[in-house]
Amino acid sequence: MERNSNLIGWVMVGALAFPAAAGATGIPTFTRDIAPILFKNCARCHRPGDIASLAPFLSFDTVRPWAKAMKDKVLLREMPPWPADLAQSLKFRNDARLKQADIDTLVAWVDNGAPKGNDSDLPPVPRFAEGWLHPRGLKPDLVISMPDDFHAPAKGEIPYLRYLVKVPLSEDVWVAASQARPSNPALVHHMAITEVMFDNGMTPADLGPMELLAKQLGLPSAPVRTRPAVTAPSNAAIFDMLGVYTPGTTFEMYGPETYGDDSAKLLRGGQNFYINFNIHYQATGKPEQDRSAIGFWFRKGPPTHQMFRVPGAADTILANGKELLADTPGIKAEGTGVAIPPIPPQAENYEVTGITAYTEPVTIYQFQPHAHLRARAFKYTVVYPDGREQPVLSVPKYDFRWQLAYDLETPLKLPAGSKMVVTAHYDNSPNNKYNPAPEKEVYFRAQNQSWDEMFTPFIQYTIDNENLVGDHRNLSKSPPTEQRTRNALQISEVVGCLSQNPALWMLTHAGAPLASTTQFTTAVELKAAEGKALGDGGYRLLGVDVFRPSSYLGQKVAVKGVLIPDAKENRLNVTSLQPLSGTCGNDLR
Ligand code: HEC
Repeated sequence: MERNSNLIGWVMVGALAFPAAAGATGIPTFTRDIAPILFKNCARCHRPGDIASLAPFLSFDTVRPWAKAMKDKVLLREMPPWPADLAQSLKFRNDARLKQADIDTLVAWVDNGAPKGNDSDLPPVPRFAEGWLHPRGLKPDLVISMPDDFHAPAKGEIPYLRYLVKVPLSEDVWVAASQARPSNPALVHHMAITEVMFDNGMTPADLGPMELLAKQLGLPSAPVRTRPAVTAPSNAAIFDMLGVYTPGTTFEMYGPETYGDDSAKLLRGGQNFYINFNIHYQATGKPEQDRSAIGFWFRKGPPTHQMFRVPGAADTILANGKELLADTPGIKAEGTGVAIPPIPPQAENYEVTGITAYTEPVTIYQFQPHAHLRARAFKYTVVYPDGREQPVLSVPKYDFRWQLAYDLETPLKLPAGSKMVVTAHYDNSPNNKYNPAPEKEVYFRAQNQSWDEMFTPFIQYTIDNENLVGDHRNLSKSPPTEQRTRNALQISEVVGCLSQNPALWMLTHAGAPLASTTQFTTAVELKAAEGKALGDGGYRLLGVDVFRPSSYLGQKVAVKGVLIPDAKENRLNVTSLQPLSGTCGNDLR
């Protein structure tokens, strides 16, 4: 299969035979009809040494005991794991769902006693490529491994583990491909790999004493001492994720061979940079070991576009419809610049919404919603600069066990002035079967555990009008995301009156727009906005429903958003909407 590796994340070696399904001739058999379905769709996880080794699906004898369970799982579409809702999502090239015909064949086989059939019908057992998976057989240019083996107990919940390993590079490099690789895939549930930078000459050795101090002070976790080495273009608080390992996804390549473009990821080199492995191990029933690593294949010279994988809708955050101010004190949730209030005990439907607007045209390649045990749904929606809204990924039954990356079949090109809105719902009630403690508040912290929560809607994308070729600045000295000059649209802050005309949301009596460098708002900015005079400007406001604007109708408000150039009307694709004290008066409605 040459649709290789990074997209579906695994490589199957050797041709498979696909005999015609049973049809009118009779009952499906394992060897003729079922084995090809299982080998193609299930065996990459259901085999010895991988994540579902408890139920290996490579031979009749090991499959037969699972026949009934298989029928249930495929009818419910719980297996293979692919919880996205077709109707509310774009098409994905790694879509793992079974074809309806395959489901029908599996069900008919089970309903007819799950017979074996003739041995001679059995297709060859698939071999799965192992080791470094570069399609041209190249060895990585750099491998960074965990410093020691992790020894897992046979049973019990293992907390998230964090390993920090120095990046042995003196200069920045561009990464054409990477592969996160456990030495023991059966043990690794998932891992997230980022590059971080230590502040003030600190090293990982300082973490222990700091964490102890935080405990003594009664802080829920130690203050953040590391910064992301590579950040989102719109917000330096948001990190760029180098690699994510989930069962089956291991090799990832950018650029011409994958996407037909010229993109690469940045790996920073210098004094202070460390690879941060965040690993969630899952006990397998016997004591086991792992030493995970990440391998990098470099490219010569900069690409046209830098590939970012950032929590892609995390500039402005709303909790239960209320926009959070970025300067409210508290521990910032990992991957955002905001303190998200904890989920109350027993809360069934806690909602977190994130917004990021794009001031430049972008191309999106991949979505990967990430959260923990309480998360139960994720939805990504685009609001275009003409006001059109389009759902692009909906995961109505989010399941933390499947940290899937959804690779777009056709990369999504968004014009400048678009925004991404992601909403996640969390269930902290006992109805959530994975909830370890409904009686507890659940915190969104920095460096959290699976019993804490996260709101991390990853998006992998490039900025279309960027061209790094021939860019000879020393990136180590001047972080590229801060230094690049681009002709981007402007984020503006405007004070005015919120009105409706008749279905459209408008800002009337608007004062002069003020340029802003951020998409979110702070208490300090709102205080300044209070004193601003109204004017005679008017704006059409796009994508404001998430701010629940009805409650502010007729009020004086401060709005931020991307200002969209248009000869006929002023438009703002809104990223912040906050009421100010004082109304606009009846005459102004
Ligand atoms: C991405 C990896 C993956 C793929 C692909 C996959 N499974 Fe699974 N499956 C798992 C894991 C892991 C478990 C272990 C239990 C769990 O976490 O639900 C599991 C459990 C099961 C179970 C046992 C459920 C129980 O009662 O304990 C069945 C049956 C099953 N899978 C069937 C299938 C079938 C049939 C396919 C293909 C059509 C498939 N799976 C594809 C990962 C996978």
